[in-house]
Amino acid sequence: MRPASLTWATLVLASLAAAAPSISRRNNLVVHERRAQEPRDWVLTRRLEPSAVLPMRFGLTQSNLDKVEEMLMAVSHPDSPTYGQHYSVKEVVDTFAPSAETVERVVEWLTESGIDTERLRLSKSKGWIEVDTTAEEAEALIDAEYHVYTHVETGAQQIGCHSYSVPEDIREHIDLIKPTVHFLHRVPTPDQVQTDNLMRKRSLERPSTHIKLGSKVKADGTSVNLPPSLANCDEIITLDCLRALYSIDRKPTETKKNTFGILEFTPQAFLQSDLDMFFANFSPSQVGKKPTLISIDGGVDQTNMTGFDFNGESDLDLQYAFGLTDPQPILLLQTGDLVEGASFNNWLDAVDASFCTFEGGDDPNFDGIYPDTLPGGFDKPESCGILKPPFVVSTSYGSDEASVTRAYAQRQCTEYAKLGLLGTTVLYSSGDNGVAGNGGVCLDGNGNPVTNGTGIQFNPDFPVTCPFVTGVGATQVNPGSTVNDPEGACEQVIFSGGGFSNFFEMPQYQAAAVKSFLTNHPPPFSGEQFNNSGVARGFPDLSANGANYVVAVAGEFELVFGTSCSSPVVGSMITLINDARLAAGKGPVGFINPAIYTEKFQAAFHDITMGGNQGCGTPGFTSTEGWDPVTGVGTPNFSRLLPLFLELP
Ligand SMILES: *[C@@H]1O[C@H](CO)[C@@H](O)[C@H](O)[C@H]1NC(C)=O
Ligand SMILES: *[C@@H]1O[C@H](CO)[C@@H](O)[C@H](O)[C@H]1NC(C)=O
Ligand SMILES: *[C@@H]1O[C@H](CO)[C@@H](O)[C@H](O)[C@H]1NC(C)=O
Ligand SMILES: *[C@@H]1O[C@H](CO)[C@@H](O)[C@H](O)[C@H]1NC(C)=O
Repeated sequence: MRPASLTWATLVLASLAAAAPSISRRNNLVVHERRAQEPRDWVLTRRLEPSAVLPMRFGLTQSNLDKVEEMLMAVSHPDSPTYGQHYSVKEVVDTFAPSAETVERVVEWLTESGIDTERLRLSKSKGWIEVDTTAEEAEALIDAEYHVYTHVETGAQQIGCHSYSVPEDIREHIDLIKPTVHFLHRVPTPDQVQTDNLMRKRSLERPSTHIKLGSKVKADGTSVNLPPSLANCDEIITLDCLRALYSIDRKPTETKKNTFGILEFTPQAFLQSDLDMFFANFSPSQVGKKPTLISIDGGVDQTNMTGFDFNGESDLDLQYAFGLTDPQPILLLQTGDLVEGASFNNWLDAVDASFCTFEGGDDPNFDGIYPDTLPGGFDKPESCGILKPPFVVSTSYGSDEASVTRAYAQRQCTEYAKLGLLGTTVLYSSGDNGVAGNGGVCLDGNGNPVTNGTGIQFNPDFPVTCPFVTGVGATQVNPGSTVNDPEGACEQVIFSGGGFSNFFEMPQYQAAAVKSFLTNHPPPFSGEQFNNSGVARGFPDLSANGANYVVAVAGEFELVFGTSCSSPVVGSMITLINDARLAAGKGPVGFINPAIYTEKFQAAFHDITMGGNQGCGTPGFTSTEGWDPVTGVGTPNFSRLLPLFLELP
């Protein structure tokens, strides 16, 4: 009988047999990764003791990664004869597992460098080689200097090196090595909220029960005849406003087969009393509805800390997702414990066991590492492959490309492509700072953040710049306009995140759109401000309203702004489309970008041609005919989008 996976002994024997005569490879080391940015608020305290033990993990290069875009297009492009024929989990794992040669070559390097074979472990996914080494051994092996850094405020410590190297002929077999340059920039304290997409609020002057009813007079003096609930959508967005704006008119029937996930990072949490308060006012039949809690890495719906910072995001996402897809159940992917928190890789681990740390892919400097050994932390094994990926996952969180390394971003991005192969639509909000990054920070021209406001280079978000996710920007009903008028890019409180990636190449599916934008509407910026080569990934992909949402938060109605609002609304529409496809005996749509950029699908979008996304001391890009890096291809008309997706196989 063939064992499920090669045992370590077999591999080692194979590698020894194949080993070339011993040569010292340490002479031709080349830098593999260098720190993306120097740590702020962390001071270099001392050189790490030579005897300190480091849990070294060597991420192996996956196979067939060069084919991932082609494979994804084959199941996602409407013109492909294999549209909708998504992969099984096993097919995906087998396709991308590192090759036997890669494993052998890395093992050979380590053993020839003096690390005994008994010390090496190969993860079950075959994605990682693990070995505990002393700092001294690690430093010699990868030509690094490890230091201890201390956080200026909390005294928290972490180790890291500035750069590291591997032998030239091994480089192609190594994806990344940890722990090394990936530095934790956030402080791991329980009160650290990770809603990177700033979502700002304005308190609602009047509670919803007092929303002004009746007709409305437009700026030009003509009066508008609209049902009372739609008369003020330029000032207050409700479920009815969204249904009218996007012609959403489907009641799901396939709720048992369909799945819709909303991702939240602890300590963000919803309050049932807030959901009920919202439902009582806007969707009475849903009072008492709860999401299904999927606890990832000790994720809890904490209720001890309340208020906008702790409940705003979760309450918003759930109230609108539930309201628009009633009666579809919603999976709440609550990620991270109260002590350490979590990041994007943690939810990816939960839906793909082959991606897990020790089995696949976390970085202790960006991601939560479980079991969490801190007091009160989640001390159980991390959540690996605990959940089949939902058909749609909406995420209203983000960070900046400039805060992660290319290798880290690339590895995570490939994982989104795999989810697309499995038939999942992954949505990320595009950020709320226009062309600037989180906190309005811009870059110095070399990709480094400048916090004093003098940065001139635009600062794109991540993961939304990954070409294998769907980026959602924000629009608004312009002041004085109604749901029947064209929307503009959101210019109230927030500006829709958009621009061009500094890391990722333009995917083929948006080539014509990007070319048309840069040729027909050349932006008044140079290559100093953004990658204007015409071959960089542009974002967002599409958009939806992101201004003036009424949300019940900690017992009060508030007005909420942000691409955070837009993502769950698009997620709801895709969920309704999946419902119709399931009812017709078809599968979910999966990765939607190749479809929504086609000529045919343009008729299903309201092209947004007003407004811009200012930032970095500039007016930002301008919304214009066709795709633009402010609002993407526009906002959906659900009634038109549905039949287009429904007629696909
Ligand atoms: C959406 O498309 C339908 C069908 O063409 C049309 O009747 C409707 O007016 C459109 N909705 C909006 C809000 O433009
Ligand atoms: C709230 O705090 C108390 C006391 O610290 C703790 O026992 C309880 O588990 C917490 N509950 C939640 C939901 O976080
Ligand atoms: C802002 O910071 C940059 C480097 O980070 C520096 O070159 C520049 O002089 C600073 N400007 C001001 C006004 O402090
Ligand atoms: C612009 O993006 C492309 C594609 O990712 C890349 O090849 C090129 O080096 C980038 N240009 C600059 C100046 O960074």
